[in-house]
Amino acid sequence: MTSFPFYRKAHTTPASMPTNLLLLLLFGVRVLAICPPMCTCSRGHRVVDCSARGLAILPDSLQHNIHFLNLSHNRLQDLDGLLNHFDHLRTLDISYNHLHHLPVGLPRALWDIRASGNYIRQLEKNNTAYHWNLQKLDLSLNLLERVVFINNTLSNLQALNLSHNTFWTVPTNMPHNLEMVDLSHNYLLQILPGSLDRLPKLSIFYLHANHFTSLSDGVFGRLDGLQLLTLGDNPWRGFLLLTTKTAGNTHKAGGNRKQSAPALFENTAELALKSQ
Ligand SMILES: *[C@@H]1O[C@H](CO)[C@@H](O)[C@H](O)[C@H]1NC(C)=O
Ligand SMILES: *[C@@H]1O[C@H](CO)[C@@H](O)[C@H](O)[C@H]1NC(C)=O
Ligand SMILES: *[C@@H]1O[C@H](CO)[C@@H](O)[C@H](O)[C@H]1NC(C)=O
Ligand SMILES: *[C@@H]1O[C@H](CO)[C@@H](O)[C@H](O)[C@H]1NC(C)=O
Repeated sequence: MTSFPFYRKAHTTPASMPTNLLLLLLFGVRVLAICPPMCTCSRGHRVVDCSARGLAILPDSLQHNIHFLNLSHNRLQDLDGLLNHFDHLRTLDISYNHLHHLPVGLPRALWDIRASGNYIRQLEKNNTAYHWNLQKLDLSLNLLERVVFINNTLSNLQALNLSHNTFWTVPTNMPHNLEMVDLSHNYLLQILPGSLDRLPKLSIFYLHANHFTSLSDGVFGRLDGLQLLTLGDNPWRGFLLLTTKTAGNTHKAGGNRKQSAPALFENTAELALKSQ
């Protein structure tokens, strides 16, 4: 009596074998499909270029161990939760798409995120809280009015491009190891006290093409590493004198509103900008 189930089982095994074989084949085929047909891949298919392919959705069959993924110049609207399993991804280019926010769940291995030319309005705290490896973040040409950084996050971030957005004030709490910040082509009117107090490595700071009329002396005083500051193409009113820590030369430059060429100062000691 008890042998009956075994008999039945033994009997079904040969019948299920072709199914197993089929599954194995399907799985095998899926593993072999390492480069999505609409993309080009190189370096062992770990460098993937899917740019300008008219994509509205993420191609499937992307290898899980890719290093580099270029999805720029497509029509992608939402990548939330779709990229987090690419644990080896170092460079992600999602610029010039239709994204309204930075995708949720970007891989933590990323070094370089390029997301310019989208419709991103806000950078949430959570977007960047876990990206210890990130060195470059490009959010230029978006609709950002403010960004919120959590203290002591993004500790490896060196370059932050926020140009061509809609900022009114320089973001506070910027990551402390930044070397380059581009805030040109915004609506900046003011720099809140303390915003620039803890950026010892900042050496290149673009503030040209904004709406500044004045700045309080000393606002750049703690930027010990400053080598290049651009302040041109702002509607400066009257005479502006800005002092930085380094003693020495005085630089004078025309800062009237018609001048589009940025003012350039190297190791600024005193910076004088005269309007009109
Ligand atoms: C991605 O592709 C675009 C268009 O081909 C190119 O301009 C861009 O430089 C590429 N991004 C990266 C990170 O190489
Ligand atoms: C922030 O991200 C973490 C990890 O990705 C997640 O567990 C958490 O729920 C998120 N919090 C919010 C407020 O989105
Ligand atoms: C920042 O982005 C803008 C627009 O994408 C670009 O023109 C500019 O060169 C970038 N700035 C730097 C310092 O790379
Ligand atoms: C972040 O750091 C600033 C400057 O040290 C400090 O004033 C502020 O209280 C900190 N914020 C939090 C939430 O820890």
